[in-house]
Amino acid sequence: MTILVTGGAGFIGSHLCERLIKEDYNLICVDNLTTGLKITLNSLLKNPRFKFINHDVVKPLNIKSKVDAIFHLASPASPNHHSKISYLALPMATMLVNTTGTLNCLELAKRNHARFLFASTSEVYGNPLEHPQKESYNGNVSTTSPRAVYDEAKRFGETISYYFYRNEKVDVRIARIFNTYGPRMLKADMRMIIKFVTQAISGKPLTIYGNGKQTRSLCYIDDMVVGLMRLMFYPNTKGEIINLGSEKENTVLQYAQMIIKLTGSKSKIIFSEPLPENDPLQRRPDISKAKKLLNWKPKTSLEIGLQKMINYIYPSSSDLQLAQREKAD
Ligand SMILES: NC(=O)c1ccc[n+]([C@@H]2O[C@H](COP(=O)([O-])OP(=O)(O)OC[C@H]3O[C@@H](n4cnc5c(N)ncnc54)[C@H](O)[C@@H]3O)[C@@H](O)[C@H]2O)c1
Repeated sequence: MTILVTGGAGFIGSHLCERLIKEDYNLICVDNLTTGLKITLNSLLKNPRFKFINHDVVKPLNIKSKVDAIFHLASPASPNHHSKISYLALPMATMLVNTTGTLNCLELAKRNHARFLFASTSEVYGNPLEHPQKESYNGNVSTTSPRAVYDEAKRFGETISYYFYRNEKVDVRIARIFNTYGPRMLKADMRMIIKFVTQAISGKPLTIYGNGKQTRSLCYIDDMVVGLMRLMFYPNTKGEIINLGSEKENTVLQYAQMIIKLTGSKSKIIFSEPLPENDPLQRRPDISKAKKLLNWKPKTSLEIGLQKMINYIYPSSSDLQLAQREKAD
């Protein structure tokens, strides 16, 4: 069986590729390295069952071999306005990869009679008025805020995926991924946990936007990979839209305090700037559907996950760390 992963050189994609190779699949990874690094795939590049294609999925995908399943993960994903590789810094690329890019991947799935999984996001719920968020909630999303380039593009990505399911009979499913963290997140993308851990380890202040009372729930990467694989391969997942994420909710301030404690850092916490426009105040998935259909819920405790993240950042001497620094410059 051959699986194609778009965005396979990224944070979630590289972990997924590793896991799929371990499970004996043949793998094609398509990535244009906008926000990812080929070095994250170093352990796979020499494997005869693994093929890397440097390609922008906004252009049509002409894959000659038969593909049985497509995970469409390609997209910038960081919301941090200070990052050069956030979706705010790459607005057109973000809109195109989730719209035209999704269309190209769906066409490929249709030609191959392949299963298709679209990596959507909790951002489709916007700044939610319902809490926790169930899949049936339609969201509270601005069409024109700076974040809309991501939120609305993902919403359209869901719409076109569902069109192919309903009208073109493609075997589609949609994962609404909530905040996920773990090793291989790039320092340059400055998402909350990697930013706090890096700041704590280097003794710099941990910078919080707003008053820190906004909440997030964080899922460790290994759990997310299991959820994505079950959503792709379990029976009765065709046409399903499923939240994947952690139900344990903490404030941003609590995460900062936990990281200071776990690293033993002397860093202070500062409230460096107001909350960015449309930054959600509350975020927590209702994962009853994932529990029922996929027998899935996250298993890794926050303490263990954060400790693994800290061990990965420190000491910072690996090839990956060097490549990360180049990406940030
Ligand atoms: N990590 C999270 O917490 C989270 C939360 C919600 C949704 N998601 C979604 O999951 C997916 C993966 O996220 P991630 O955290 O691994 O992000 P990432 O930025 O680490 O990885 C995305 C990968 O896609 C590649 N890419 C971007 N545009 C491309 C294009 N046009 N053609 C080919 N490749 C392209 C990048 O180079 C990168 O390797 C994204 O679709 C994201 O929106 C992630």
